[in-house]
Amino acid sequence: MNISYNEGNRVFKLDTEHTSYCIGIVDEDNFIGHIYYGRKLTEDNLVYLMRTAEAPFVPSQNNRDRTSFLDTFPMEYTGNGLGDYREGTLEVRTMGGHSGVSLSYVSHRIYDGKEALEGLPATFGGDKECMTLELTCEDKFLGLQVLLSYSIFADSDAIARSVKIVNRADEAIYLTKVLSACMDMDNDDYEMITLHGSWARERAIQTRPVMKGKQSVSSIRGESSHQEHPFMAWKKNTTTEESGDIYAMNFVYSGNFMAQIEENQFGGMRAMMGINPYHFCWKLEPGESFQAPEVICVYSADGIGGMTRCFHDLYRKHLIRGEYKDKKRPILINNWEATYFDFNTEKLLGIAKQASELGIEMLVMDDGWFGRRNDDNSSLGDWQVNESKLSGGLKHLVDEVNKLGMKFGIWFEPEMISPDSDLYRAHPDWAIAIPGRTGSLARNQYVLDLTRKEVRDYVYEMVASVLRSANIEYVKWDMNRQLSDLGSYGLPADRQGEIYHRQVLAVYELQDRMTKEFPHLLLENCSGGGARFDAGMLYYSPQIWCSDDADAVERLSIQAGTAMIYPLSTMGAHVSDCPNHTVGRVTPFETRGYVALAGTFGYELDVTKIPEADRNMIPQQVAMYHKYNDLVREGDYYRIAHYADNHFYDCYEVVAKDKSEALVTYIQVLNRPNFHSRRIHIPGLDPEKTYVIANAQEWPEIKQTEYKGDTLHYAGLNIPPLWGDFKGRLLHLTAK
Ligand code: DGJ
Repeated sequence: MNISYNEGNRVFKLDTEHTSYCIGIVDEDNFIGHIYYGRKLTEDNLVYLMRTAEAPFVPSQNNRDRTSFLDTFPMEYTGNGLGDYREGTLEVRTMGGHSGVSLSYVSHRIYDGKEALEGLPATFGGDKECMTLELTCEDKFLGLQVLLSYSIFADSDAIARSVKIVNRADEAIYLTKVLSACMDMDNDDYEMITLHGSWARERAIQTRPVMKGKQSVSSIRGESSHQEHPFMAWKKNTTTEESGDIYAMNFVYSGNFMAQIEENQFGGMRAMMGINPYHFCWKLEPGESFQAPEVICVYSADGIGGMTRCFHDLYRKHLIRGEYKDKKRPILINNWEATYFDFNTEKLLGIAKQASELGIEMLVMDDGWFGRRNDDNSSLGDWQVNESKLSGGLKHLVDEVNKLGMKFGIWFEPEMISPDSDLYRAHPDWAIAIPGRTGSLARNQYVLDLTRKEVRDYVYEMVASVLRSANIEYVKWDMNRQLSDLGSYGLPADRQGEIYHRQVLAVYELQDRMTKEFPHLLLENCSGGGARFDAGMLYYSPQIWCSDDADAVERLSIQAGTAMIYPLSTMGAHVSDCPNHTVGRVTPFETRGYVALAGTFGYELDVTKIPEADRNMIPQQVAMYHKYNDLVREGDYYRIAHYADNHFYDCYEVVAKDKSEALVTYIQVLNRPNFHSRRIHIPGLDPEKTYVIANAQEWPEIKQTEYKGDTLHYAGLNIPPLWGDFKGRLLHLTAK
């Protein structure tokens, strides 16, 4: 890892182990141009690549012989309204009502380490682990200073970028758009990969060609959302899972976002990512600064899989924190699909008792334990234990669960308020609402206005006092409605455009407080399933509930899309009941276990009511989890086949970092009659080593049990057809 500045040619060069990123300062205006990002280069003599003075009829301040490069020049971070007609990253409105920003380089700072971003989640690392380049640029006319930060890591090829705006003028200015990263390059036959979905089918992978004009994904829902994801990658159309160029951006943020690629008139393209400018207007008083969240940029020459593994390693080492960062998580049983709102102490203890005998390690009490909440129409905000359900109180229940040798976890939805709650009756102005307009309800609830400090403090105390009252070792932090009707009684008219972002900052502040006061707590974020599964939340919770859909087949697609970016250790995954509560599908209990094994692993069913044969399988599944979880959590993940593409089977693999073992999960979604065995290629192994099928007894059909790593990769292995649909098997390979 190194960051250098060549004063002769005014080029900055950021080198990671396998990549280089080059920035140049050009022209008497000191524009900051993007020169190169890709495979590692030995030199920085690259100024010849910057296209200057090429396009006629483009406005520019110094009229440049009636040509200007402003509309084509590859900018590192763009202004707006002064000659570059591509979409820009920074927009302002002055007190006089004008826009127009142009940024010029002023100075730079290169330092060891990486500074934290105030109030925001971000990757981190010590002085020996990271280096940072901070470019200071300015718009002299506006008195606006812009700090562009680029951090690199000794053990990763990722680059973390962020932007800070400082108002150095003597009057306020409105920031109407502040994106966090921009990357201009030629469109070299790129295809864009994005993730799309809805409730219960989050993050399906979509690939499309990058074409002229704009193509984007975004959220204006106040959360990263079920629908689109704050991630995009662009790859050459020849790039595969295993080889070829790919670039990616992922946002370390949990609110509104936009991610866009625009191809311009000359075939150049601009990729950008940041907070969605929709309903964003941040008033910056003189001397104040605005910190935009971080974007992680990745380039890999090793295909889509190379990009994925780069994100996984970065997030495991430099984003996820806390006690459970590198630890096996307790196998939990959650009562949501077991009981919904219909439970009491006796029922929960019945489940816990049976579960503990089977090796399950924690009981999680989901929604419905507080206020008068017997359905989803009331009581959010009234975080007092409902003792008519939990007779003897919460501490009694927790103590009884602990006596069984199990941990205890609890559900909250701290950001919400039900109109039918004591809290709303006392403080109707604490809900986000447009004064005078009938508020929109979703799941019969409003969103609490957490931009107000008194509301944040109240909610925190309510939640924390429950956590202080008993030995609670896990919290599921849920969020079940998107934001709408934006209005805060706590903010003046010209700051109403700050609500979306302030709300996200407030959630971060609350989770920060909670994880500091309860450092041993295991926090799992959740949002109506997986609507807030993002890198921002991973800074606070090492795992996130992936989706309300725990059907083994749907989960193959949801987990493949999620694992495109996020480590398997972060994916909340449970074995649930059948027929599945979301799709009605019946899959073998065994297969549900294999699919949940690719995540945190737990149960979401009434263990006292499931068929005995299934119940009897739980101790084996528990043993399977304990046997393989270190490998699953820490290893390198490879996608081998995706049933959403081939419609018949799914296959993925985790290989130990030292290549001493690998676990291949093979799920035959649909059987086909009269079909020969299926050839799979198993990558990531040491080509020189001999691997043994360690669980050969589970594969009586495969007679040969020893293979060289390169044979398994290039020649492959024949997987025999399995009898029936939705059948799965694990293949455990160990090096001799
Ligand atoms: C949505 C979550 O995703 C579910 O797991 C469950 O906790 C419900 N909310 C409870 O209301």
